[in-house]
Amino acid sequence: MLTIVNGFGIKGIDGYAVKVEIDINAGLPKLDIVGMVSTSIKESKERIRSAIKNSGMQFPIKSITVNLAPADIKKEGAMYDLPIAIAILGATQQVCVDRLQDLKQYVFLGELSLSGEVKKINGVLPMLISAKELGYSKFILPKDNAMEASFIEGIEVYPVKSLKEVVDFLDHKIHIPPIEAHSFESMRTKQHTDVDFKYVKGQSRAKRALEIAAAGGHNVLMIGPPGSGKTMLARCFPTILPDLTFKEALEVTKIHSIAGILDPTKGIVFTRPFRAPHHTATLVALTGGGKYAKPGEISLAHNGVLFLDELPEYNRSTLECMRQPLEDGVITVARNEATIEYPANFTLIASMNPCPCGNYGSRDKECRCTPQAIHRYLSKLSGPLMDRIDMHIEVDSVTYQDLTNDVLEESSDQIKHRVNQARAIQLERYKNADGIYANSKMTQTMMKKYCKISEDSMQLLDMAFTKLNLSARAYNRILKVARTIADLEGSQDIMEEHIMEAISYRNLDHKYWDN
Ligand SMILES: Nc1ncnc2c1ncn2[C@@H]1O[C@H](COP(=O)(O)OP(=O)(O)OP(=O)(O)O)[C@@H](O)[C@H]1O
Ligand SMILES: [Mg+2]
Ligand SMILES: [Zn+2]
Repeated sequence: MLTIVNGFGIKGIDGYAVKVEIDINAGLPKLDIVGMVSTSIKESKERIRSAIKNSGMQFPIKSITVNLAPADIKKEGAMYDLPIAIAILGATQQVCVDRLQDLKQYVFLGELSLSGEVKKINGVLPMLISAKELGYSKFILPKDNAMEASFIEGIEVYPVKSLKEVVDFLDHKIHIPPIEAHSFESMRTKQHTDVDFKYVKGQSRAKRALEIAAAGGHNVLMIGPPGSGKTMLARCFPTILPDLTFKEALEVTKIHSIAGILDPTKGIVFTRPFRAPHHTATLVALTGGGKYAKPGEISLAHNGVLFLDELPEYNRSTLECMRQPLEDGVITVARNEATIEYPANFTLIASMNPCPCGNYGSRDKECRCTPQAIHRYLSKLSGPLMDRIDMHIEVDSVTYQDLTNDVLEESSDQIKHRVNQARAIQLERYKNADGIYANSKMTQTMMKKYCKISEDSMQLLDMAFTKLNLSARAYNRILKVARTIADLEGSQDIMEEHIMEAISYRNLDHKYWDN
């Protein structure tokens, strides 16, 4: 007799339907799980066997074959424990006797413990989103994943703690109320941190650049001597980022859910991620992939910030891997059987010293490095990578006067208010474009439409292009930054002064990387 139960799996960041087919025959007692399963799933045999026995039910002493279809996708993870156990119980008439078809209306997700508990799994949100799109509407899943599931409207989710509970529920012996849906906006609370731009004295140019970067999602490189406050400025950056929209939050949550770093009490990511991987992090940790496919740091930073402090310390090959995501907003990682694509649309904030001693270009300290040493240091960063960083700013130490005066600096909230307004203009502008939320991601066609400039501005750009020896890529990025500067001002048109300011963030190409 063949019994079929619905499960779900994860490929990349999307879910796909898995049919758990089970066939039980007389013969030597065994449990085989087939259908391109990884060794991690083979381990579930013992868990399922013990969980069924310890829940007071019979594990059949027969020949059991479980097939996870479709067979052409490699299956990983513990989420098939529950549907497999239910299929075995259904096929042996221990649940839904005479009405096995009842099982078909549910999707089952969950890992089992040896004692029969239903344990939390990774990737619930992406599976539910895909399942809903495919027309599934009823789910039985671990109670510890309930919060995450509650942000998806229009589905019925029954949270469970144990296998026994699932069986009793299916047999109408107990009632489990479906979880209540939560609205993203009403659950969002303000986070309290001690980090705030009001504590950063002076540095008005760096602050201005970071405000533009936050508003339009542009990448920034800060160059300056040790102690000038680069790390401090970067740490403040998240406090002025525009609020995450629900759509963006779902994208981020999908990735964090699959990576297993989602806070189960929140269930969804409310704030833009800020990831600061150390320069010793491995390539796989940064880009993702590996034996059991997982998103890396650059994907965990999706719709948020990737902060690379002391940029030249990172391995050159690591930095070169940033080129694809910085251009396309995705990263492709190769695995044994196939390639996987993870979203990686982040804002890069990087910092570095201008030379090995750190004082090159400093107002009051002397650089002791030879020109060759400086050149060697800077050449760790390739031209194509620098090209993809929209804004380069020099940060010099604040003067003693600035540091000790009691001028009240603008708070992060004040800056964020302007950023939010500029972002609202962009969200409206790109409302029909899938996955585009900010100026930095404009396509060529969009640039033609939204970055029209006057003859004079054109000449200005042409001059800068030749004088600063800029690439075509830099040219486009300057225009996008100018678009954001105009949006911050609420100006429909990009004016000459907007172009001029945008160019001013590129003149370090010339100073440091001209050869
Ligand atoms: N503008 C400023 N206002 C207030 N405090 C500052 C400012 N600049 C620097 N500081 C103080 O100096 C400390 C050192 O700054 P920070 O670590 O950010 O420098 P850095 O540029 O990252 O240096 P390094 O190149 O050595 O990493 C900060 O923790 C802060 O206490
Ligand atoms: Mg630092
Ligand atoms: Zn030096």
